[in-house]
Amino acid sequence: MAFRAGAERGLGAGRAAAEQDAIGWFHAWEGNIISVDELDVYGLVGEDGFARLIGAFYRQVPGDPILGPMYPPDDLPGAEQRLRDFLVGRFGGPQRYTEQRGHPRLRARHMPFAVNAAARERWMQLMGNALDEVQLPPEAAALLREFFGGVSEMLINRPG
Ligand code: HEM
Repeated sequence: MAFRAGAERGLGAGRAAAEQDAIGWFHAWEGNIISVDELDVYGLVGEDGFARLIGAFYRQVPGDPILGPMYPPDDLPGAEQRLRDFLVGRFGGPQRYTEQRGHPRLRARHMPFAVNAAARERWMQLMGNALDEVQLPPEAAALLREFFGGVSEMLINRPG
C-alpha cells in the first residue's frame, strides 16, 4: 500500500502522522488499481501543475453561492497557498505546509466551516472543473480525483 511505501522510505514524523490520520482514505482505495505511486504525483505534476490546478479551483470560489461566503474574502491568495502547499507536500514535494502550519489536522481545521453534503458536492464540482481545465497527466489526475473524493467525504461535519 502506498501508505506503507511512504513510511518505509523514511519520511518524517509529520508526514507519517498525517497519513496515519488519513488511514480511512486508503481503505476506501483498496481494491482499486492505482498505476502511479501517490508520492510520484509531484514528479508528474510539478509545482506548476499544482499551482495551475489550485488557481483554477480558487478562481471559481468567490462567485460560488455555497462556497464563496465560507472562504476569507480578504485572504483568498493565502487560502490558495495553504491548499496548494498542502497538496504539494502530501504528494511528494517540498514540505512547506507542515513547516509553516504543522500537522494538517484537516477535520479539526474544517470544523468552523459548515461542511454538509451540498458543500462537499460543490467543492468536488469546482475541483472537477479545475481538473478538466488544467489537463494534468491522466494517471495523476485520476489519483487526485480519488483522493479529493475520499478526503471531502471525511470532512463532512454537519447534517443536511
Ligand atoms: C468538502 C468540502 C470542503 C470545504 C467546504 C472546504 C472549505 C474550506 C475552507 C472554508 C477553508 C478555509 C480557507 C483558508 O483560509 O485556508 C479550508 C481550508 C483548507 N482546506 Fe478545505 N474544504 C473542503 C475540502 C477540502 C479537501 C478535500 C481538502 C484536501 C484535499 C481540503 C484542504 C484544505 C486545507 C489544506 C486548508 C487549509 C487549512 C489551514 O492550514 O488552515 N479541503 N477549506
